[in-house]
Amino acid sequence: MFNIIKEKREKILETKISASLLGADLSNLGQEAARAVKLGADWIHFDVMDGCFVENISFGAPVQKSIRENALMENHFIDTHLMVERPDSQIGFFAESGSDMITFHIESKSDTDHTINMIHRRGIMAGLAIKPSTPAESVFPFLEKLESVLVMTVEPGYGGQGFLNYTLPKIKEIRKKADEIKPSLMIEVDGGINNDTAPLVIAAGADILVSGTYLFNARNMMDAIYRLRNNNG
Ligand code: DX5
Ligand code: ZN
Repeated sequence: MFNIIKEKREKILETKISASLLGADLSNLGQEAARAVKLGADWIHFDVMDGCFVENISFGAPVQKSIRENALMENHFIDTHLMVERPDSQIGFFAESGSDMITFHIESKSDTDHTINMIHRRGIMAGLAIKPSTPAESVFPFLEKLESVLVMTVEPGYGGQGFLNYTLPKIKEIRKKADEIKPSLMIEVDGGINNDTAPLVIAAGADILVSGTYLFNARNMMDAIYRLRNNNG
């Protein structure tokens, strides 16, 4: 009996892999999203860049809507990462475009508490992202309301960058605080995740591993996903 409960708990807490479409063949986004979920990705990570909060412009709500409607099933999970200066203006569009979770930056021009409420009012999970140099404590006042905190492990704006090791203690600090006040909080890590860095972030307390370049460039994506998920060093 206890073993069954333990197994179920481990299953629930199993590391999840979120495939970042920024690392995919951008001329084939729908097929790439479908390929990732077919080969074992738990979530699809959709990076939205506005050319203001970060230098780049990536893709917006109409593109996500088309992927949702034409390439994914209803039960596939879309994790929208807003790297935009004014997240409030985008929430309605993404709510209509099939986001299951919307993550916005604490450094953006928004009232954090109000933006979390806006997301929740749409029946969507709320995530709060922090850049590598933003301290862990900045998210503490919001932990109780959030479903997830996304720790950027590279500077936001580009795929294919090297993992910043100095972000690791921050993951631990957030996990420790969350265990005290919001044990169900998920910690997502984003940037430079590969077979070498996965065990480090898992050991630090990450639950969701976002990966773009490593997954979409892998010769065997199914194997790469399996190894990321089960890599405990
Ligand atoms: C970076 C994005 C990431 C990025 C991760 O600004 O938020 O999601 O796509 O890509 P890799 O895995 O290539 O670092
Ligand atoms: Zn991202």
